[in-house]
Amino acid sequence: MLTDQYPRVDLSHTPTPLDSLNNLSEELDGPRIWAKRDDCTGLAMGGNKARQLEFYLGDAVAKGADTILTTGAVQSNHVRMTIAATRKLGLEVEVQLEERVAGRRQEYYDSGNPFLMKMMDAKIHRYPIGEDEEGADRALYDRAEEIRKEGGNPYVIPLSGNHVPYGALGYVKCAEELLEQFPQLSLRVDAIVLATGSGMTQAGLLAGLRALGSGIPVYGFCVRRDQTAQAGRVFDKAQKVAEMIDCQGVVTQGDVWVDDRMLGPGYGQLNAELLEAIRLTARYEGMLLDPTYSGKSMAGLIHLVASGHFRRDQTVVFLHTGGTPALFGYPEILELQ
Ligand SMILES: Cc1ncc(COP(=O)(O)O)c(C=O)c1O
Repeated sequence: MLTDQYPRVDLSHTPTPLDSLNNLSEELDGPRIWAKRDDCTGLAMGGNKARQLEFYLGDAVAKGADTILTTGAVQSNHVRMTIAATRKLGLEVEVQLEERVAGRRQEYYDSGNPFLMKMMDAKIHRYPIGEDEEGADRALYDRAEEIRKEGGNPYVIPLSGNHVPYGALGYVKCAEELLEQFPQLSLRVDAIVLATGSGMTQAGLLAGLRALGSGIPVYGFCVRRDQTAQAGRVFDKAQKVAEMIDCQGVVTQGDVWVDDRMLGPGYGQLNAELLEAIRLTARYEGMLLDPTYSGKSMAGLIHLVASGHFRRDQTVVFLHTGGTPALFGYPEILELQ
């Protein structure tokens, strides 16, 4: 296993299933679409962050940490699942919620992820700005310093670009899992489609696939920043994680495919294509997508199919990265659809 040299804690229910989306494939009249159900990883309602947290918290436990700190948006899945992981491991946790999405209703602040965070009894700090990753991380490190002075041993899971991408190792492992599952299901996969935010999922998957000799393209639909910035970020992280698994140079710039056409009007904001993707997937597969991540990547996949990007005899895997609790923070979805 490529990641064996790194400490890991067991947090996720893996392997996650690969489901055939027959009805949606028929409805879109394009390639065969399968869903890799990483919304079913467990850990307080699932999502891609479970795999990432296995390595962050593996590192934290190995370093003897007693308090975990992290930051994210008010409806952050990463924050919700970090809290769940600390509860399972018996660690203290302090989280910081950033004011990242303007114009939301009260439910955004009370339902879905923030509701679950409170249920798991986390200490919650607020950060007033959403588009200041470095500032948000600095605030975490400042708080960590205070905890250290009080005699604790804090561990920060930062958000900004410049840290060791332990989380991406979780998706190196997922690449191994997928390459075992595909032949079991007799699948020849032509592309994998996912949402790309911090870039950990895309970078880890790319590094893992290429390290294992697979050239399957990974299409990342941007959810946070434009495609130029995101491409740089994913490439940087992919290179770092490739080095971490002793496969330096396996990912090239040309491997990094990102598209920001579904991002508008911005992080956590709704658009017509996203609403249609959520509606279609619920209606034809009973599969629930979220408004910030998986809904936007499915909207991207639907766009690719509609524009003839794939042949009908091809097979595409949609990586369902989770996020469904956030649906409850967006009750207007039903009114707008
Ligand atoms: C549900 C969901 N999907 C996708 C992503 C994006 O993954 P990454 O940050 O690894 O790019 C996130 C990140 O928060 C997420 O919560």
